[in-house]
Amino acid sequence: MCGIIAYIGNEPALPRLMEGLRRMEYRGYDSAGVALLDSPSLWVRKDVGRVEALASRVKDGPTAVVGIAHTRWATHGGITERNAHPHTDQGTRIAVVHNGIVENMSSLKRMLAAEGVQFRSETDTEVIPHLIRRHYKGDPVQAVIDTVGMLRGTYGIAVLFADHPDVLVAARNGSPLVVGLGDGETIVASDPQAIIAHTRRVIYLQDREVVTITRDGANVCKLDGSEVGRQPELIDQDYELAELQGFPHFMLKEIHEQSESIERAIRGRLQLDEGNAKLGGLEMSPRDLRHIARIVNIGCGTSYHAGLVASMAIEDLARVPARSEIASEFRHRNPIIPPDALFFAISQSGETLDTLGAVQEVMIKGGHVMGVINVVGSTIARACGKGVYVYSGPEIAVASTKAFTSQVTALLVFTLMLARTRNLSLEEGQRVARALSAVPGRVREYLEAPGPIQKAAEIIAKARYVQFLGRGYSYPVALEGALKLKEIAYIPSEGYPAGEMKHGPIAMLEKGTPVVLVAPRGSQRDKAISNLKEVQARGAFTILVHSAGDDELADMADVSIAVPETEEFVSPLLTVLPLQLIAYEVAKLLDRDIDKPRNLAKSVTVE
Ligand code: G6P
Repeated sequence: MCGIIAYIGNEPALPRLMEGLRRMEYRGYDSAGVALLDSPSLWVRKDVGRVEALASRVKDGPTAVVGIAHTRWATHGGITERNAHPHTDQGTRIAVVHNGIVENMSSLKRMLAAEGVQFRSETDTEVIPHLIRRHYKGDPVQAVIDTVGMLRGTYGIAVLFADHPDVLVAARNGSPLVVGLGDGETIVASDPQAIIAHTRRVIYLQDREVVTITRDGANVCKLDGSEVGRQPELIDQDYELAELQGFPHFMLKEIHEQSESIERAIRGRLQLDEGNAKLGGLEMSPRDLRHIARIVNIGCGTSYHAGLVASMAIEDLARVPARSEIASEFRHRNPIIPPDALFFAISQSGETLDTLGAVQEVMIKGGHVMGVINVVGSTIARACGKGVYVYSGPEIAVASTKAFTSQVTALLVFTLMLARTRNLSLEEGQRVARALSAVPGRVREYLEAPGPIQKAAEIIAKARYVQFLGRGYSYPVALEGALKLKEIAYIPSEGYPAGEMKHGPIAMLEKGTPVVLVAPRGSQRDKAISNLKEVQARGAFTILVHSAGDDELADMADVSIAVPETEEFVSPLLTVLPLQLIAYEVAKLLDRDIDKPRNLAKSVTVE
């Protein structure tokens, strides 16, 4: 949830660190800080608020060539300068930046306090520099090894020693760290985004590993001190450095990228003639697929919604029982893990702690789990070993958009494979494959002429409450529309199955309450329209998302938004687009911080 970066090289460290923080700010943005080795002492500056606030404060900082920096999402202790990282030991000779949670901080704090340590912050992190100081006998790596051996919980840390100007030490357990090997410089960061402008040669650190970095390279060892000898790998050229490219926000850019990102999720995977598909990463033959008796999709937030869509399609097309689970609930309720079930862990970041916990729970019980992941090489992708990459490219806006449509697409490709091993005929398979391959074009077509989004946004921006309704495949879309609006516009909103609305939410409606109904052509359209009439009878202001050409609906609501017609099972890939755009436009009208909404984090690495 935090972003950490460390630099050692021959260039001034401060500009490199600030650039890295800006690129990772989406990982945490309530405060930021930096420590430089301004020999013979450490120079530490922190500020609450955004990286830019820190940048203006440190612009005349020393031209040191070694340093560490951090952008924070608060867990322990409020958003204050004192609680911002880096944290130091009492003599300010050791500075630490940390991503994760030290679960045994209370007992460690008690022990250190009894030894005379005076704490200056309310954070869990502060125990780390004090422990390193306690273990330090001249060898910085050993001191870090001894310290992390005492920590329970998760950590990605980088440590700067005033007494060792030529090394930095970093370690990980559960929080990602990647080491970039440049020419005369080495960078450690939470995210390749902070590195790839400088080098694509990297080493991904694994759990319970410690890395010593110098300007000439990196040396990875285990906690027993034994060398790992890992070879660097090259980050794929397709992995891009996320830039705004003229868009005012990453969210708008990512919404508009969806025809290409969906295309990447199906490219090379669909077999139009055979009416089939191939997902190599699953390493499953038709015979293996035939043995799957049920599917369980697990995720959090938007990824959970993608799982809901996929579960419906799996039951609908493949007639295999499927359900979706919220990872934080699933992992803690001693779930039943049938040996003939296939579990999918769906995660954009591949780092969400609850989803990772769910994966571990499935594995412990001997279950079969695979990842549906965007970030290549991420923790969940590695933990699962097998799965599907969705290839939506880096998603920077905290509110997920293109990852959702890529996840749904990848799972629909899987659904086709699964369905072909069951009842789906060649002709039906061809129809499904054709419907999927047409989606990128339909998405482009819609985004070129998105309809009266602004009109809907102007009404919603003034509302105190908004209801999103949908049936069948459009129900998860309603949930996603409400989530987007909450996330970035902070307007109370809820998504509901349209048929269930009568059992409670209808009481929320007053004259003028905006209700967004998603009703593309398909098996549930007519019933959804009955619900439209019901909310109109209560005076709601209605915004209807319907299929283009469905003329009967075009004048039925106060605002009608037409999306290109598709087969029902791919309709969420189209109907979600206006809801993403509405949330974006409302947030813009309300002058919200669209890419970095309050209190949220892109990658949630705490429970
Ligand atoms: C956070 C993000 C959401 C995301 C969810 C799950 O809440 O703000 O956009 O849907 O985490 O993240 P994941 O990376 O596992 O898909």
